[in-house]
Amino acid sequence: MITYRPLDLPKIPEELLVQDFSQNKLQVDNSDRNRQFTMTRDGQAVQPAWNRRWEINGALLDWIKENVSDRFHHVGYAVTQDAADHLPHRDLIGDYKIYYVVQAGGDDVVTRFYQTPNDVPPGWRPECFDDLIEIDSYRVPNESWVMVNTRILHGVTGITGQRHMVSLTFYGEMP
Ligand SMILES: [Fe+2]
Repeated sequence: MITYRPLDLPKIPEELLVQDFSQNKLQVDNSDRNRQFTMTRDGQAVQPAWNRRWEINGALLDWIKENVSDRFHHVGYAVTQDAADHLPHRDLIGDYKIYYVVQAGGDDVVTRFYQTPNDVPPGWRPECFDDLIEIDSYRVPNESWVMVNTRILHGVTGITGQRHMVSLTFYGEMP
């Protein structure tokens, strides 16, 4: 099963990213839900990073449709912050994602994939790190594209600052 695939797509022109996306319509705000949800690692509670996503429109949306894809289910600008771990989960929406890493959120930010129990529903999360078996991981440079199988249990470690991503959500098999 494919976990991720780097994509050879052009960088987003910088002028299209110089804007305050938090002024746009909020699509996703996991801050409350995530605050209530913690996992344990070696018996210690692990605090979750916040994840928020805002609408993308105008020239950036046109650029994405022309240069990446126009058949996404969602597209948005996602910011993750305030803790080192984006806790392992299966995505609630979609089967795979394409991400553009605007800034990874630190010097050693790693996306990790874990063995996923059969038939876990969308949005599923484990309660504890200790039984997880890592099956793959990647680091992606800033200003690059990656396709991720979000049906596989995955999480991010090593976030030290704000992590900014352009995020496209798709249904179906990863091409
Ligand atoms: Fe995810």
